[in-house]
Amino acid sequence: MSKSLKLYASVFGGIAVTLTLAVNMADRFVAEAPEDLRSLTPLELAAPTAPAGGLVAAAEAGEAPKDGPLGIGREALPEEIAAWNLDVSPNGTGLPPGSGSVEDGEMLFSENCASCHGEFAEGSGNWPKLAGGEDTLANKDPVKTVGSYWPHLSTAWDYVHRSMPFGNAQSLEPDEVYAIVAYILYSNFIVDEDFTLSNETFSEVVMPNAGGFIVDDRPETEYPQWTGEPCMTDCKDSVEITMRATVLDVTPDHGNDEAAAEPSVETPGEEVELASADTGTEAAGIATDAAAEPAPSPAAADPELIAAGEKVFKKCMSCHAVGDGARNKSGPELNGIVGRGIGSIEGFRYSKPFEEAHGAGETWTLERLHAFLEKPKEAMKGTKMSFPGLRKPEDIDAVIAYLSTFAE
Ligand code: HEC
Ligand code: HEC
Repeated sequence: MSKSLKLYASVFGGIAVTLTLAVNMADRFVAEAPEDLRSLTPLELAAPTAPAGGLVAAAEAGEAPKDGPLGIGREALPEEIAAWNLDVSPNGTGLPPGSGSVEDGEMLFSENCASCHGEFAEGSGNWPKLAGGEDTLANKDPVKTVGSYWPHLSTAWDYVHRSMPFGNAQSLEPDEVYAIVAYILYSNFIVDEDFTLSNETFSEVVMPNAGGFIVDDRPETEYPQWTGEPCMTDCKDSVEITMRATVLDVTPDHGNDEAAAEPSVETPGEEVELASADTGTEAAGIATDAAAEPAPSPAAADPELIAAGEKVFKKCMSCHAVGDGARNKSGPELNGIVGRGIGSIEGFRYSKPFEEAHGAGETWTLERLHAFLEKPKEAMKGTKMSFPGLRKPEDIDAVIAYLSTFAE
């Protein structure tokens, strides 16, 4: 057989298998409902229960299913719908009659739930905690439990009734669910040990986080703003460019810039000399012990170098501000940075290495600043400043000269 013929053969084989499956599936759905639905649990009801013999008979007879809109299936029986329709509303609608005490709940919880959720509903290993976590919702790592987070008791009742114990869902009687939920409430200090939860006492319980959710009112408050005619011309009085994407340094800048860098790499000696001539005390500081140097006065710096530094600072501006009224952005404001304490801006959340340096009373000497701006991640391991560093030493000198003109 040629290669292509073999291919056809397998395609036809595949179609045959698919067709057979389709016929089988169709029959499965027209199978008669079992006689006594009342004796089945909802889960049994959900599973296809038609006897295999029925399938074969229907397929052999070649009957076309016709009940449903697509020619398959049948309408769900009221009993089947009732078995799934067990949701409980926040006001208690849908609760079956029944009751259970904290005391009974403790036993039942211990038998059915504690292996995963802990004896006191405090959780075990990685299984969910059902109790505790008060006042943690505003934390970075909130502990969301039935007690700390769930606004409605109906959610707890419904959840336990519908889906727990994990792996053996819907095996509990309503009275058992009432007792277990009462125990979960008790574990969260929401009810006393002598409390009995029932369909009647249900609405007495107020969950601690009942007021913690808001109703989504955006259809009334926000959508109208977006449904009017959009403005397409002259929509703003004046347009101002406040920032350019290039300052983030995400696009490699080939061209003039790169060419200019070339000679400085080849003549490092000259470079250093130039830098020291330009920056006076600053460059000297870099070469010698910077800590001993006083912060350079703005007047001593070279205006050209400062101007060059202002340009370099465009790479920093998306995260840092300087000057009058400078505020923290995603990075701290940098006024008076030379000689300033490392990580010393109050109210700014620094990374750990910065906090440690601050704790040790370390300051931004010219030397440290230079090293940091060249390779931030190496100079301060663990810094959250996501900036790759300045490649050219003269850029670093320039930006430091520029920054030096802003007093603290
Ligand atoms: C075999 C382990 C296991 C057992 C036993 C078990 N659960 Fe769970 N329970 C889980 C898991 C897993 C989840 C999370 C399910 C998910 O997120 O889909 C959970 C979730 C829950 C939640 C919701 C927690 C939340 O904050 O989202 C409640 C309430 C709960 N279980 C109650 C119970 C009760 C009551 C019992 C005993 C009748 C029980 N569980 C038995 C494993 C278990
Ligand atoms: C993407 C944002 C971002 C860019 C771009 C950026 N920085 Fe930063 N910078 C930060 C963050 C965040 C910190 C705080 C570091 C930490 O806590 O680890 C920081 C810290 C600093 C510090 C220390 C401040 C202090 O209070 O201790 C200096 C100095 C600094 N940056 C200078 C610069 C310079 C100069 C540039 C441009 C060449 C620049 N940064 C570019 C985000 C940025």
